[in-house]
Amino acid sequence: VRSRLRGDERTAASLGIAIGVAFALCFITGVVSHLAQSPPSWFTWPTRPAGLYRVTQGVHVVVGIAAIPLVLAKLWVVFLKFVRWPPARSVAEALERVTLVPLVGGGLFLLGSGLANINGWYPWPFSFRLAHYWVAWITVGALTTHVIAKWVAAREALRPGGAAPIAPTAEGWSRRGFLGLALGASGLLALLTAGQTVGPLERLAVLAPRRPSVGPQGFPVNRTAAEAAVRRTARDPGYRLTVDGNVASERRFSRAELQAQPQHEAVLPIACVEGWSASRRWRGVRVRDLLALAGAAGTEVRVHSLQRAGAFSTSVLNRWQTTDPDTLLALEVDGEVLHLDHGYPIRLIGPNRPGVHQTKWVSRLEVL
Ligand code: HEM
Repeated sequence: VRSRLRGDERTAASLGIAIGVAFALCFITGVVSHLAQSPPSWFTWPTRPAGLYRVTQGVHVVVGIAAIPLVLAKLWVVFLKFVRWPPARSVAEALERVTLVPLVGGGLFLLGSGLANINGWYPWPFSFRLAHYWVAWITVGALTTHVIAKWVAAREALRPGGAAPIAPTAEGWSRRGFLGLALGASGLLALLTAGQTVGPLERLAVLAPRRPSVGPQGFPVNRTAAEAAVRRTARDPGYRLTVDGNVASERRFSRAELQAQPQHEAVLPIACVEGWSASRRWRGVRVRDLLALAGAAGTEVRVHSLQRAGAFSTSVLNRWQTTDPDTLLALEVDGEVLHLDHGYPIRLIGPNRPGVHQTKWVSRLEVL
């Protein structure tokens, strides 16, 4: 396409700002997600605000998707600069241009891998989380270098009167029209996705892989009891919850015995790492009450599932989570006995925890 917008610095700088904001938001919320799931030893993930992870991961996925048209528009505008000859006129320029490889490659990888992940598609042999995490650091490093290198030129191009106007012609777009198209497409994608976590927008969420009110008992299931191979063990009348490890006396509870314990209610979201979330009223036994019954001396607990294999067959409750009054082993949701796919006979639910750590089909609390 012959257009004077190709190579136009003002358009490139405007899109650059929008992409910078989007990538910064994704990076911050992504690092938050990493800290929530894999906290380093010096960090304790808090239990409050209870809906924090719901917001950060919702923002991450919606903003990430909204960045796609911006990145495509920017690549279209600057494409001819990639293939120009000679590629660089000085060593400094050559170095600066080399950082475009991780910038463009990394940016496209983050968008592509993120999109594939939320759609449950893993066409690669490596760990999505590990790759997405490290590529995010590399990309943001390259982006920072790029912003520093282009700072002066971008400021000049964005200064009022700093760039000559581009009039719409038969073969092209005006600057304003093109930016409006890119930002409009970005806003539209956000609007058509945000309903996976923002209740009132659910009916518009045609691009979201999950609708928060669709599934057994009115909310989604990522892994069914059949997929986790627990259909038999979860319904076994001999089921017992064991509380053991660093305890004064090991305890075992049938579901009926758990039901006979003081019950507590809490309205808490299930907030999936894939960006969807749904708030529900849970009822069950406080983890801290069960620990007290066993005379637990430790402050951290590993929660085990009947699910034998897989990354989500266990999760750890930190000292704030084990003492929080809303960290429950839920027996009911919204007044009904938990559906098998939601973790019957009991599931863990606690404030501000990523969904993958709200362990289902809980069989054991191992006090650490
Ligand atoms: C735009 C630039 C992006 C950056 C800088 C970025 C960065 C990150 C980081 C640092 C993490 C944490 C990884 C970890 O827990 O170790 C993360 C997680 C995640 N990102 Fe992104 N991301 C971007 C785009 C996207 C997009 C476009 C999507 C989806 C459409 C996406 C979906 C996800 C998901 C689902 C996770 C959670 C993965 C899991 O824990 O299983 N990301 N991201």
